[in-house]
Amino acid sequence: MVACAKWLLLFCVTALDITVISTQRPSRRPRQLKEKPQSLQDVFNTTSCIPPPYRCPHHKLQFYLYTRSTQEKGELLDTLDNLSLTRSRFNPAHPTKIVVHGFGGGRNLSPSTDMRKAYFARGNYNIIIADYGSLVKEPCLSQIEWAPRFAGMCIAQLVEYIQYHPSKAVAPEQIHTIGYSVGAHILGLVANHLAEGKLGRITGLDPTIFFYMGNNRSRDLDHTDALFVDILHTGAGILGQWGPNGHADFYVNGGSSQPGCAHDTIFQTLSCDHTKVTPYFIESINSREGFWAGPCPSLFSYLIGWCEPKDTEYVMMGEHVTPKARGIYYVTTNAKPPYARGFPGKSRRLRSISPDSYS
Ligand SMILES: *[C@@H]1O[C@H](CO)[C@@H](O)[C@H](O)[C@H]1NC(C)=O
Ligand SMILES: *[C@@H]1O[C@H](CO)[C@@H](O)[C@H](O)[C@H]1NC(C)=O
Ligand SMILES: *[C@@H]1O[C@H](CO)[C@@H](O)[C@H](O)[C@H]1NC(C)=O
Repeated sequence: MVACAKWLLLFCVTALDITVISTQRPSRRPRQLKEKPQSLQDVFNTTSCIPPPYRCPHHKLQFYLYTRSTQEKGELLDTLDNLSLTRSRFNPAHPTKIVVHGFGGGRNLSPSTDMRKAYFARGNYNIIIADYGSLVKEPCLSQIEWAPRFAGMCIAQLVEYIQYHPSKAVAPEQIHTIGYSVGAHILGLVANHLAEGKLGRITGLDPTIFFYMGNNRSRDLDHTDALFVDILHTGAGILGQWGPNGHADFYVNGGSSQPGCAHDTIFQTLSCDHTKVTPYFIESINSREGFWAGPCPSLFSYLIGWCEPKDTEYVMMGEHVTPKARGIYYVTTNAKPPYARGFPGKSRRLRSISPDSYS
C-alpha cells in the first residue's frame, strides 16, 4: 500500500523540486527544522550558497581527521600545507576512510559520529570527514547543479594531497570512500578530477536521484569511478536512485521501503526509508551475524519469497563486502536493531519481510 502510493508520488516530487526541501531531512529530528525558507526567493538565495571565490580548498568545505586517539576532537587538515598532515595523527599504515555526508549533515552530527564510533570500536583507522555542514544546511537550489561538482573537485584535491605527501603518502587505490545521499554523487565526481590513479572503493549509501536524473552518466556515480563500487539502496525510486549503479548493488528489503518506516505523512515515510541506510551500514561494521545478501532472478521473485540462492552465492553486504561481488543482491533485515539477520542457511528462502512489520 505504502509502496504503491510512493510510486504515484514520484511524479509529484520530481515535478516539484521545492518539496524536496521538506523531505531531505530526517523526520525524527525536528530541532533541525528551524530557519525554513519563507518564500521561493529565499529558497534560491540562502546563506548556504557557496560564497566566492570558487577555489579549492574552500573554507566552507573542511576536512577533519579522526583517529583512535583523537576520537572526540578532529584535526583540521590544510591541503595547502604538507606539514598539516605530517603533524597530525594520520598513520599511513592504518586503513583510510573518507566520509561525505548528505544535506544537513556535519562532522558532529549522526551518522558521522556513529560511524566513527563503530570503526574505532573495531580498530585503528584514519577517518576523514568532509564537512560541508555549514554550506548546505538548506540546499541552495541556485547552486545545486554545480555545488556537488565543486565539492567533488575539492575532495579530489584532498585525495591528491595524501597521494603525493612527502612522508605520509597513501595511494588513492588504498582509500575507501563512503558517501551518503548527495555525498555518494560527490564521490562519483571525484574520479573526474584525479590526474593519476583511482579510488580503491566507493560505498554509496542510497545515492539520491535529485541531482543527475539526466542521462549524463559522467555526472553519476557508476562502476567506472573506483576499483570497487558498492551501493546500498533503501529508498530507491523516490529519494534514492533506482540503479543499479555499482559493481554490486544491494537492495535492502526490496530497496524502496523499509520496515518500521510507516509514518503519518508520506514525506516522513520517504525520508525514513532513505535515512535508514546509514544505520544498516554502521551496524555492518561490527555485526556478528552479518547482512548476507543473495542474487534473485528478479525483484518480484524476491518480494514473493520465491528466491533461493545457493549458499555459495551469498555475499556479505556493507563494510565487509567482498570486492569480487558483482551484480544485484537482495537482503532482508529486521525492523529494529540489530537489523542483521545472519546467514539464511541451507536451502532457506530469501524471504521478504512480512507486510505486517511495515507499520
Ligand atoms: C541574495 O542575497 C544577497 C544578500 O542578502 C543579496 O545581496 C542579493 O541581491 C540576493 N540575490 C537575489 C537574486 O535576490
Ligand atoms: C607536498 O609535497 C609534495 C612532494 O614533495 C609536493 O609535490 C607538493 O607540492 C607539496 N604540497 C604542498 C601543498 O606544499
Ligand atoms: C556531461 O558532464 C560532463 C562533466 O560535467 C561535461 O563535461 C559534459 O559536457 C556533459 N555532457 C553532456 C552531453 O551534457
